[in-house]
Amino acid sequence: MQSPDLTSILDLSPDDIERVVETAIAMKRDGSAPVLRGRTLALLFEKPSLRTRVSFEVAMTNLGGRATYLEAHQVQMGDREPISDVARVLSRMVHGIAARTFAHQTVLDLARWADIPVINALSDLEHPCQVLADLLTLREHLGALRGARLAYVGDGNNVARSLAFASVLAGMDFTCASPEGFELTPEDIERARALPGGGSVTLTRSPAEAVSGTAAVYTDVWTSMGQEHEANDRREHFDGFQVNADLLARAPAALVMHDLPAHRGEEITGEAIESERSVVFDQAENRVFAQQAVLSMLLAEGLA
Ligand code: CP
Ligand code: NVA
Repeated sequence: MQSPDLTSILDLSPDDIERVVETAIAMKRDGSAPVLRGRTLALLFEKPSLRTRVSFEVAMTNLGGRATYLEAHQVQMGDREPISDVARVLSRMVHGIAARTFAHQTVLDLARWADIPVINALSDLEHPCQVLADLLTLREHLGALRGARLAYVGDGNNVARSLAFASVLAGMDFTCASPEGFELTPEDIERARALPGGGSVTLTRSPAEAVSGTAAVYTDVWTSMGQEHEANDRREHFDGFQVNADLLARAPAALVMHDLPAHRGEEITGEAIESERSVVFDQAENRVFAQQAVLSMLLAEGLA
């Protein structure tokens, strides 16, 4: 890997992305050698989680190592002791840190102070592990990523940002439809377009335009963790951005994707999630294998 950490999808090169996806496919098919025997991953989570916590724990077990879960209110990072001390103490005891934080800067500060790899397990800015599992899911269902079209309908949030970067690096064409005021930023777009890999990013205000001719339609919650006080306001702004039967009729062959948890009746209907073309539970399952690939590359001596 070009970086010792995975704080952002931007830490990965196009070759890294391909290697993660192909390694994950091989591990899913053939099982994994215990390359992390004797190694421990600390899970340092400031926000709730089902998929990310369990998939990291299972991935470490599958690789012969173990994970230890640390609750934010126990560690009280930045309050009971500074981030720099938490990072240095953990560096003396474990072999990697997967951190789920509010401020993205917390992940960067951990990476700055830790002598061990730091993996972003979701911050307000990015969700790289989710998106690697999503690429794996697309690769399984479409056969290849290069040249594939992916449409995202909804909030220009952490998941959308990581998808935009990952799409360019994987050579995919990514279209993002968001309401005014909730788009990816011009800086995000500029960054994505400057990446190698050959993919593209397009912004639109029209969900119908975004999904036309696409291979997959992806959405995420309108209200992310930490934004709960904005939920009512957001429901009004996102009116017309629901992934439902009407929208999906414009993309008859498209897969339906969601990182979960979903708010059925808001960004997506229950019918769309339960439809035959929904791959949401494949995405969840693939968290294990995408993270096994990342962990084996970052934490196993001699493989980095
Ligand atoms: N998709 C995802 O990251 O789920 P959790 O918040 O449950 O970990
Ligand atoms: N955008 C969502 C993703 C949850 C997995 C959030 O940050 O809450």
